[in-house]
Amino acid sequence: MRILVTGGAGYIGSHCVRALDQAGHQVVVLDNLVYGHAEIIEQVLGVPLVVGQVGDREVLEAILRGRHPNLIGTAHESKPIEAVLHFAAYAYVGESVSDPAKYYRNNLGDTLCLLEALVASKRPIPIVFSSTCATYGVPQEVPMTEFHPQAPINPYGRSKWMVEHLLKDFSAAYGLPSVIFRYFNAAGADPAGDLGEDHDPETHLIPRVLDVMSGREPYLQIFGDDYPTPDGTCIRDYIHVCDLADAHVLGLERLLRLREREEPIGAPLIYNLGNGTGYSVQQVIETAKSVTGRGLLAHVAKRREGDPAQLVASADKARQELGWRPRYPELSTIIDHAWQWHQRRFQR
Ligand SMILES: NC(=O)c1ccc[n+]([C@@H]2O[C@H](COP(=O)([O-])OP(=O)(O)OC[C@H]3O[C@@H](n4cnc5c(N)ncnc54)[C@H](O)[C@@H]3O)[C@@H](O)[C@H]2O)c1
Repeated sequence: MRILVTGGAGYIGSHCVRALDQAGHQVVVLDNLVYGHAEIIEQVLGVPLVVGQVGDREVLEAILRGRHPNLIGTAHESKPIEAVLHFAAYAYVGESVSDPAKYYRNNLGDTLCLLEALVASKRPIPIVFSSTCATYGVPQEVPMTEFHPQAPINPYGRSKWMVEHLLKDFSAAYGLPSVIFRYFNAAGADPAGDLGEDHDPETHLIPRVLDVMSGREPYLQIFGDDYPTPDGTCIRDYIHVCDLADAHVLGLERLLRLREREEPIGAPLIYNLGNGTGYSVQQVIETAKSVTGRGLLAHVAKRREGDPAQLVASADKARQELGWRPRYPELSTIIDHAWQWHQRRFQR
């Protein structure tokens, strides 16, 4: 199947490109490279790359119809795209608070443009969308199921929550088939060692811990140690990026099966993706110490606004409906894979 992956030069998207490729699909990536890495697509994944903005309707139409010049001589030439995996978004919570326009324009405006293009063809093109546990806001209970009320507390979370509404409305009005995945904390790297997380700036805990352990950063800031958790630090649910990628392949296949059976898909299929186990910042540090054999200097800073004490998923629905089984649920494995990538990428 011919699949467009937006944001495929980024962290999660690049792992999904590989999973799709391994499942026998033909992928083209659209990425503006603001945070993505062209060399990962060109030198590691070897699929066609179009550098551009999701909100550029002309570029989109050209890709969707197989008419973009970069598709000449590929499996996509003159052939229509059959499904889209939409990862492209900006994802810095703090920046979304100081510059919300950037987030609504990119995450919401560009996605609206994409959805309009998908329903413009006679048969709407199915889409799998990267949403987030940030759409839930402050948890009322953990673990959180898909039925937990959604009350996002920052513009990033609201931009994703609004796209979820677009997908619901487009599904009802135009019959656009969609899957919404709400990820918890993506982490780890492909055990092959040639794909992984490389954000600049980096705000995610595991790569920041590894940055300090490898000497790239002088110390780690721990944001708050007075939360109502056993050791006072925040608890999060870390999910291996390859397990996320597997879920995308399964979600896409389920969507297409339903469509082939002509079953009415009146609403998006919605799934949380997490392991259902929470680890505190201290537990992540301790695990990283035993995986790497290195220590680190840490300073406690004040809490960040809007950081809930605990975010833990119930992903039973994805397990039951998609048959999804995370292959790497252990935190030590997740950190080990991240460390292997980190050493290869940053310590030449
Ligand atoms: N990393 C996580 O833990 C996490 C958790 C929940 C949700 N998500 C969501 O998953 C998706 C992927 O996250 P990631 O960590 O891989 O981020 P990333 O920044 O590594 O990847 C996103 C990619 O999209 C590109 N991009 C952004 N806006 C674009 C646009 N308008 N047009 C074209 N390209 C664009 C960027 O250049 C980047 O390569 C995002 O939608 C994010 O909101 C991530």
